[in-house]
Amino acid sequence: MTGTRNRWKLMSTARAEKPPEQGKRRKLDDYETPPHEGLQLARFFKPSGNILEPACGSGRLVGALKEAFPGVRITGTDIKTGHDYTKRTKTWAGDIITNPPYRDGLADFFTTKSLELADGKVAMLLQSGFMWGSGRCDSLHLVTPPELIIVLPYRVYFFEGPKGKPIKSQYFNHAWYCWPDRAARERGDYGTRVEWAPKIADNDDENDFG
Ligand SMILES: C[S@@+](CC[C@H](N)C(=O)[O-])C[C@H]1O[C@@H](n2cnc3c(N)ncnc32)[C@H](O)[C@@H]1O
Repeated sequence: MTGTRNRWKLMSTARAEKPPEQGKRRKLDDYETPPHEGLQLARFFKPSGNILEPACGSGRLVGALKEAFPGVRITGTDIKTGHDYTKRTKTWAGDIITNPPYRDGLADFFTTKSLELADGKVAMLLQSGFMWGSGRCDSLHLVTPPELIIVLPYRVYFFEGPKGKPIKSQYFNHAWYCWPDRAARERGDYGTRVEWAPKIADNDDENDFG
């Protein structure tokens, strides 16, 4: 893995390019994460310090992370409270964890931006299709690969906004993608582990895949 990566190495670490234009898809893409996904992350991922959630919405994932990682300080920011993450340049001396907005290429942008800004680890809840894509592979996966992918082998029913119900028609598959701290990212001396999270009790089979 390391040898292959070095052969393809294009730059020393992932870099966020120009921020994409923000469009209008479902307001600000406010599909909020159900609480159990914080606990699924905590089964396999240990934070290295304080956590920034840079697209926190009403704070559903922040609440879940507080439950999953008691004693860890968690700061939530969002464009709705005046913090446009695409414009952030200040590094964060800890971990960055979020379920980012997707439209207009923002999920890729939030991921590379987080790898640029976090001194600690990065964990992103993303569609499983994030693993593919030749451009993404050259610019990210073969340069700064995740050290851990937590497969969520069931449908995640995101909440439609702060007051909305879970969206049961969800048809994408998701995984947590986790990167090590900056020092390890720069050394690049690690492989990628894959873990499967167990099914959660309140997930029904309505739109499940097997
Ligand atoms: C998919 S939702 C996830 C919310 C929360 N992270 C969660 O998991 O429950 C995406 C969030 O990104 C926020 N957002 C969209 N564009 C943003 C930007 N440029 N900077 C910061 N937050 C943004 C939206 O307001 C929305 O709350």
